[in-house]
Amino acid sequence: MKYLIFTLGLLLSSQAIAADVAAGKAKSMVCAACHGANGISIIPDYPNLAGQKVKYLESSIKAYRDGERKNGIMSPMAAGLTDTDIANIAAYFASLPAGG
Ligand code: HEC
Repeated sequence: MKYLIFTLGLLLSSQAIAADVAAGKAKSMVCAACHGANGISIIPDYPNLAGQKVKYLESSIKAYRDGERKNGIMSPMAAGLTDTDIANIAAYFASLPAGG
């Protein structure tokens, strides 16, 4: 019985993670224009996001949104995002291979 509950828990949590990444991918279409479709930017001034740490992605997107980090190009991109959007987008970019 204990084993069953454990397995069920694993199934549910892995589904939740998959849903977040898919939602993040959908929300990241706009980001791709600058950060690249695979999270690897082709523009020298724009950072790669693929394979970056989830926590760092989340905290930096929130920092732009909340005005703690300011950039004329990037700040407006973060302005409309909810905490859930940010968590999903961070999960998506973190899941991509850093090498492109
Ligand atoms: C119009 C171009 C553009 C778009 C679109 C854009 N960004 Fe950015 N982004 C930038 C630039 C330029 C920087 C570097 C800004 C700086 O120096 O602080 C940046 C920085 C970042 C960083 C910080 C990376 C680091 O290593 O510190 C994150 C995270 C990020 N963007 C996420 C996103 C997400 C998520 C989206 C979509 C919602 C997005 N960006 C859309 C141009 C863009």
